[in-house]
Amino acid sequence: MKFVQKDSEKVIWDQMRSNSTPILSNRVGNGYPKLMLYLILFMCGTYLIYSLKLLNTSNLHCNEHTPQDLLFSSRSSLQNATVLKEFVNQPEKTDLKHIVFGIAASAKLWERRKEYIKLWWRKDARMRGIVWLDDDVEPVSDDDLPEVRISSNTSHFAYKNKQGHRSAIRISRIVSETVRLGMGDVRWFVMGDDDTVFVTENLVRVLNKYDHNQFYYIGSLSESHLQNIYFSYSMAYGGGGFAISYPLAMALAKMQDRCIQRYPGLYGSDDRMQACMAELGVPLTKELGFHQYDVYGNLFGLLAAHPVTPIVSLHHLDVVEPIFPDVTRVEALRRLMQPMKLDSAGLIQQSICYDSSKGWTVSVSWGFAIQVFRGILSPREVEMPSRTFLNWYRRADYTAYAFNTRPVARNPCQKPFVFYMTKVRLNSTTNITVSEYARHRVPHPACKWKMLDPSSLDKVVVFKRPDPQLWDRSPRRNCCRVLKSKRKGLVVDVGLCGEDEISEV
Ligand SMILES: *[C@@H]1O[C@H](CO)[C@@H](O)[C@H](O)[C@H]1NC(C)=O
Ligand SMILES: *[C@@H]1O[C@H](CO)[C@@H](O)[C@H](O)[C@H]1NC(C)=O
Ligand SMILES: *[C@@H]1O[C@H](CO)[C@@H](O)[C@H](O)[C@H]1NC(C)=O
Ligand SMILES: *[C@@H]1O[C@H](CO)[C@@H](O)[C@H](O)[C@H]1NC(C)=O
Repeated sequence: MKFVQKDSEKVIWDQMRSNSTPILSNRVGNGYPKLMLYLILFMCGTYLIYSLKLLNTSNLHCNEHTPQDLLFSSRSSLQNATVLKEFVNQPEKTDLKHIVFGIAASAKLWERRKEYIKLWWRKDARMRGIVWLDDDVEPVSDDDLPEVRISSNTSHFAYKNKQGHRSAIRISRIVSETVRLGMGDVRWFVMGDDDTVFVTENLVRVLNKYDHNQFYYIGSLSESHLQNIYFSYSMAYGGGGFAISYPLAMALAKMQDRCIQRYPGLYGSDDRMQACMAELGVPLTKELGFHQYDVYGNLFGLLAAHPVTPIVSLHHLDVVEPIFPDVTRVEALRRLMQPMKLDSAGLIQQSICYDSSKGWTVSVSWGFAIQVFRGILSPREVEMPSRTFLNWYRRADYTAYAFNTRPVARNPCQKPFVFYMTKVRLNSTTNITVSEYARHRVPHPACKWKMLDPSSLDKVVVFKRPDPQLWDRSPRRNCCRVLKSKRKGLVVDVGLCGEDEISEV
């Protein structure tokens, strides 16, 4: 690279010199001696810096542009301000077409697990990706699924972990096997399992925060404190999915096989990945929207109080209960895809407000569920996930998590009345989404509080304008307002907080 830069510097300098010679001789000869010379030198300097910056920002696309190409494009851009502006100030934003997915799957579970992939895979959105299997499966002619390949033989790698399975080596190598396919115009390699569901528009939003020309390893931890202790607090958990920038994936592909040989005692594929990242010296960039979901039972508490960051993935969907009651796991997820299509940025984002006429707390997790609580609960309480789930050892232990949780109800009267989303549509006249939530009818403990009882409510309707720019701003919860409070139902509006508007009664 050094050599190339020197070379182009020289060409630019030569060009500069030949262009400016006539001016120089002309003006200097006429007696504006130093000032003009300085001015010209200054201009040359600016030109040089500009050109070098141009070379620098593009030098990782060397496979697409030769140095000559770059030089020519930088030369002609200087004559064409439009192109220059586009090239320097507005590089193309990362889109789905820049991502290549590597999905770890096994032939044995393929028939069932491929249904999860179908939920989010969109060929028409120009997605690219490969499902890596350990064995042949019935040929997939399905347009709803990515291409399927068999991983290469890894029996010559040592595997010495007594609890684990040696498929971990195969799965860890998916990154380098995918890199070696040599696809063009790739910015990110994103790994996931066959039971991972991605919200791909949010994945793009998150990746757009980072420069794909640098080394990035992006993902998230386990919910389980013990898992993080046993494995690592510095590792991206594979099922939640993680992203590796193109140059880092190239660097990894060069060393991964040697690296894997150095850690035969590790358990899984993702700790092998982290071991190699540690050798490369690249830390994990944590993004809380990737979800490993190392829990059992009901994800409700985690989903309904999602952190204020776009939801990127869901995992262990075979382990937890369906996210909507009384339907299959796949049907439940398919229902979540409806609000996702209308307003992916706002999907399951929480807003907290109060029905002051009744003295209730209302929590809206848009596109997923509503909770109505008797009494006034503070936002700091409601934004904490309630323990509707068990830990990874199937126990209800509040010390088990790497974040704060709260009991479902500190007082029996505060057990929330839950409404699950049943349908959502966009009113195309007003450009506002209308989502409906139906009461989940479960027994409630007796309550002696002398106040109105939310048990008469059947339904909640929520209005919300789609906000695709939500995450271009600093993270902040939307505000909600109870517009109508009837005996049978509530009508709630969700949107940007007005000036001085906060969550208070
Ligand atoms: C500059 O480039 C743009 C886009 O390629 C083109 O439409 C325009 O005609 C060019 N202008 C000049 C002056 O060459
Ligand atoms: C993998 O390679 C080993 C020898 O290196 C061989 O015994 C084995 O049959 C191969 N497995 C497959 C599935 O080709
Ligand atoms: C859309 O909203 C307008 C204004 O509130 C209303 O008059 C119209 O009936 C709505 N359309 C649908 C299909 O709900
Ligand atoms: C509807 O709102 C979205 C998000 O604000 C915007 O991108 C879109 O252009 C709007 N469509 C119409 C028809 O106003």
